[in-house]
Amino acid sequence: MSQQLSHQQLLQVTEEFGTPLYVYHAERIKEQYEKLLNAFAGADVKFFYAAKALTNINILKYIKSIGCNIDCSSINEAKLAAKAGFLPSTILYTSNNISFEEVEEAQRMGIHINIDSISNLKKFGQRFGHSYPVGIRLRPNIMAGGNLKISTGHSASKFGVPLEDIQEVLKVQQQTNLPIRTLHIHTGSEIKDVGVFAKGIEILFEAAQHFPELEVIDLGGGFKIPYMPGEEGTDIELLGKKVKDEFDEYEKKYGKHFQVWFEPGKFLVSEAGYFITKVNVLKHSGEISFAGVDSGLNHFIRPMFYGAYHEIENISNPNGEKKNYNVVGNICETDTFAENRLLPEVREGDHLVFRNAGAYGFEMSSHYNSRFKPAEVMIKDGKAQLIRKRDVLDDLLKNQEDIL
Ligand code: LLP
Repeated sequence: MSQQLSHQQLLQVTEEFGTPLYVYHAERIKEQYEKLLNAFAGADVKFFYAAKALTNINILKYIKSIGCNIDCSSINEAKLAAKAGFLPSTILYTSNNISFEEVEEAQRMGIHINIDSISNLKKFGQRFGHSYPVGIRLRPNIMAGGNLKISTGHSASKFGVPLEDIQEVLKVQQQTNLPIRTLHIHTGSEIKDVGVFAKGIEILFEAAQHFPELEVIDLGGGFKIPYMPGEEGTDIELLGKKVKDEFDEYEKKYGKHFQVWFEPGKFLVSEAGYFITKVNVLKHSGEISFAGVDSGLNHFIRPMFYGAYHEIENISNPNGEKKNYNVVGNICETDTFAENRLLPEVREGDHLVFRNAGAYGFEMSSHYNSRFKPAEVMIKDGKAQLIRKRDVLDDLLKNQEDIL
């Protein structure tokens, strides 16, 4: 049974820090990391936390403290990772459509780079030739992932070098002597089917034949975690076994050993996160009861942007009589967190908690409607500490030039 914060703990932090509030349970992140280590025991695997899911510096430091590596999607994430203490050898930068200047900056940092276009690959080869091994992000032409917005490996996707252009990659490699150390794919987020990863391995094994200097196969992130009650995530034990078997067999057949990399984001931090809001207003209209909370899509965009389901708990009245509610925000356009959701009776002033809010929650928040961003708290060793202060009005004006 996974560790969870109790209603009592959630009420306590609510009282201490106010709402809206993101709360992260550090040990729960460690528990997820250990699940991965156990599932892949025996295979030569490294995990790189996909920082884009949640980049609070304390989360990054904690992730480092448990021994995990880090995957970045921008040069700023790479710089934050370095600030958090990650050594260059533990930082991976999987880019997409970035300027060559940014690639050069990553090279100067001495971190691993997965390049995702022929154009940047050519420039990299010409500039650095044999001196700096790189990875290539390939587009495997596999349709997978929870919804189209988070499907990244299909044949109309902008990500990576299309598989059919592999001859181009080889040409650049020959012309510039560029050592290609890693082949990378990331087919999408929320991939439940282990078969999708198996297909990716099959494709990369075939591509690998062209790259004698290859040492690493990077299968990206995308492990599904359960959002709805009763829903199941990716069977990582099965995947761990599959990876070990497939790579052992390849080694036996071709005498070539690869290290396997994964870049999990959601899997590591989603379930460790709770988003707490307060009910400002109850409104009844015909059959519908609206519970209007002190937040909106500006703070937690997943329900509106992806149609994502997040469990909601009324921690102020957990034993109340169950009724149906539309849980909505306070933003100036439709921002529905949940429709027709059965919840213990909701009263004005009650606190509603959204589960599974650690990944892509705070990270995708904005100041829309000039609302302050939520504060963030980390609970570690049973102690709750503020890790991001609530904004004040000056934060909204900070970078503006007042010219009138
Ligand atoms: N590696 C690469 C290259 C990625 O692009 C991503 C996610 C990951 C790893 C981590 O994927 P994860 O393990 O977290 O599924 N905002 C969306 C998810 C977007 C994911 C983008 N890339 C959401 O809230 O569902």
